[in-house]
Amino acid sequence: MHKVVWDMDPGIDDALALILALKSPEVQVLGITTVAGNAPVEMTSANARCILEFLNEGGIPVAMGAANPLNHPLEDALSYHGPDGLGNCGLPLPLTPLYPVKAWDFLARLVLDAPGELTLVATGPLTNVAYAFELHAELPELLAGLVLMGGAYDLTPYGKGNRTPFAEFNIWQDPEAAHAVFNSGANIFAVGLDVSMDPAACLNSQHLEQIRTGRTPAAHLAAQLVEYEVKYHGCCRMHDPLALATLLDASLLDFTSARVEIVTGNDWDRGVTRILAADSSQLIHVASAVDGPRFLKLFLSHILEE
Ligand code: RIB
Ligand code: CA
Repeated sequence: MHKVVWDMDPGIDDALALILALKSPEVQVLGITTVAGNAPVEMTSANARCILEFLNEGGIPVAMGAANPLNHPLEDALSYHGPDGLGNCGLPLPLTPLYPVKAWDFLARLVLDAPGELTLVATGPLTNVAYAFELHAELPELLAGLVLMGGAYDLTPYGKGNRTPFAEFNIWQDPEAAHAVFNSGANIFAVGLDVSMDPAACLNSQHLEQIRTGRTPAAHLAAQLVEYEVKYHGCCRMHDPLALATLLDASLLDFTSARVEIVTGNDWDRGVTRILAADSSQLIHVASAVDGPRFLKLFLSHILEE
C-alpha cells in the first residue's frame, strides 16, 4: 500500500489518474493539493473536489496552492482541456469547502506527521512542491519518494517538447520550481513525454468503446473525459495516469538514473530538461521505456472494475 499526497492541476489526465488511484487498492490518497497549470488554481481546486464528490470520496481533503509560477505569469492549457478544464464533462460544482491551509503547509504537515511513509505524487507544475521544500528544508528526505510527471529527456523518439518543441508543459510552466525540486535531494521518479507520448500508451477510440461498457460512476466519468480528448485531439494522452501507474506496477516502466539539468528563465530553451550524465549514484530516476499495452490493460481493468 502506497500512502500518497498528491499535487495536481486537473486537467483531463490528472482527473483520469485520480480516478485510477481511487480504483486501486495499492494506493491510499491521504490528501490533495492543487496548483495553477492546466487551468487557474481556483478551477483546478474546484475540479479536484467535484471529481472526489462524484466518486463519493469527498472526505479526502483538498488544499489550494499557488495561482502563478514562481517567476512567470500563468499560461494555462484550457484550449486543450476545455473551458472547464475537464473536457466539459459537466460535473456539478463542489459542495465540499477547501481544506483551510495553504497547499505547501498542508503537504508539509502530512509528511512531517508520517516521516518516511508518504509518497508525494506531483502531476502539475512544481510551484507548490518548491514552496513546501523551501519552507521545510527537511521535507525531501522525509518522503518515501517523489513521483512526478514532467520533462522531455530525449530518451526515446517521443521525448520532445509539447509546450515548446523543446520543453514539456509542467516543467516549462515553472522551471525555477522544477530546478529547486530536482536539486532538493528528494528521491525522484520522473515520468516524461519520452514514455507518455508513446502511441502505445495512449487511449484510442477502441479503448473508449471499452470504457463506455462500464456501469460505475468512475467508468462514466472516465468515458466523458476520454471522449473529449479523442474527439478534439485524436487520442487521449495518459501523462498523469502513467506517473501514478509506477506505484501500481513498477515493472511497467524502465528508469535510468541520471543527473538532470533544468533550464530556467524565459529564453527559447525555457524548461528544457537535459540529462547531463547517466550516473547510478543520482537520485533522479528518469523513465526510459514503457510497456504501453500492459499499462493500458491495467488502466482499463481498474476503471471497469465494479
Ligand atoms: O505535459 C503534460 C502535463 O502537463 C500533464 O501533467 C498535463 O496534465 C499537464 O499538467
Ligand atoms: Ca497535470
